[in-house]
Amino acid sequence: MKRKIPVTADDKLVSKRFPRSSRYHPEWVKASVSGAANSLWLTEWLTTELDLQPGMRVLDLGCGRASSSIFLHHEYGVQVWATDLWCSASENIQRIRDADVEDGVFPIHADARSLPFAAEFFDAIVCIDSFFYYGTDDLYLNYLAQFVKPGGPVGIAGAGLMREIEGPLPEHLREWWTNDVWCLHSASWWRRHWERTGIMAIEVADTMPDGWQRWLDWHRVIAPDNEVEIRALEADRGNYLGYVRLVGRRQGQAQLSDLIVSLPAQYTRKPLLRSKDHQQTDKADPNGSSNRRPAGRRAVRTPRTGGGR
Ligand SMILES: C[S@@+](CC[C@H](N)C(=O)[O-])C[C@H]1O[C@@H](n2cnc3c(N)ncnc32)[C@H](O)[C@@H]1O
Repeated sequence: MKRKIPVTADDKLVSKRFPRSSRYHPEWVKASVSGAANSLWLTEWLTTELDLQPGMRVLDLGCGRASSSIFLHHEYGVQVWATDLWCSASENIQRIRDADVEDGVFPIHADARSLPFAAEFFDAIVCIDSFFYYGTDDLYLNYLAQFVKPGGPVGIAGAGLMREIEGPLPEHLREWWTNDVWCLHSASWWRRHWERTGIMAIEVADTMPDGWQRWLDWHRVIAPDNEVEIRALEADRGNYLGYVRLVGRRQGQAQLSDLIVSLPAQYTRKPLLRSKDHQQTDKADPNGSSNRRPAGRRAVRTPRTGGGR
């Protein structure tokens, strides 16, 4: 009689689907957790569509504890700027040093909305399980695209929806859902979000086959006590929840809009209220001619963010 070999948590991190990720030590992978997804699986899935070449400069935006950044350098020989807001760059440099990749992975503490990089510095940008925190803003892609060279790819992979929730929230998701989860979207939602700007030519917008199952596998390893999320995933069975991926290439001919950082400070003192005389004149002139804008004075408009087009 064959003895059944128990499946350990470490075995769950080995998968034929992710041969590169499977080589990493389970203790290292678990110690680098910074979110609810296995960042190596998502990075490996995303990079199959990116054609990364040794020496390329890559921005890993929202890298968390930088395991994806170390993986990218280790697997593809790219130089990675490991950039994150919540996680400490000083913690990440220790992980980077211990992985012996200090000459190719550079930890940066920065907000994705205020990045300290030169325009067109990067050959590629990746965001692993992070883009939904800031990228749903309609103006954000125009901001981010300036940092990648024309023709360079921007790829995102992370938790998302298999289809948008059009009506009320499905009953089986209610216990787990909080207001912030509304930032999760489907691949087709992201495609439209980017495509209509004309900034990116979309190359891929899809979902990971059985992504919900991978989400569940990972959760059982790193957060087995999170019964609420596990129950939601089990009840949903990939109906709504899973992993989505989007890759676009910056279109060379697309003109990026100028970013308005501030308006020139300029104050001209003017009376707050009309004078009594003026009000009387108004009464005497029912056509309100004195109310008209003086010739030659232009209406102040909200600045056009589409300037330059
Ligand atoms: C779910 S964690 C994923 C981290 C990592 N990529 C991974 O897969 O393990 C989301 C990450 O997004 C980052 N993030 C959220 N908002 C950000 C912002 N405005 N700028 C930069 N990073 C941000 C957080 O710091 C956090 O590390």
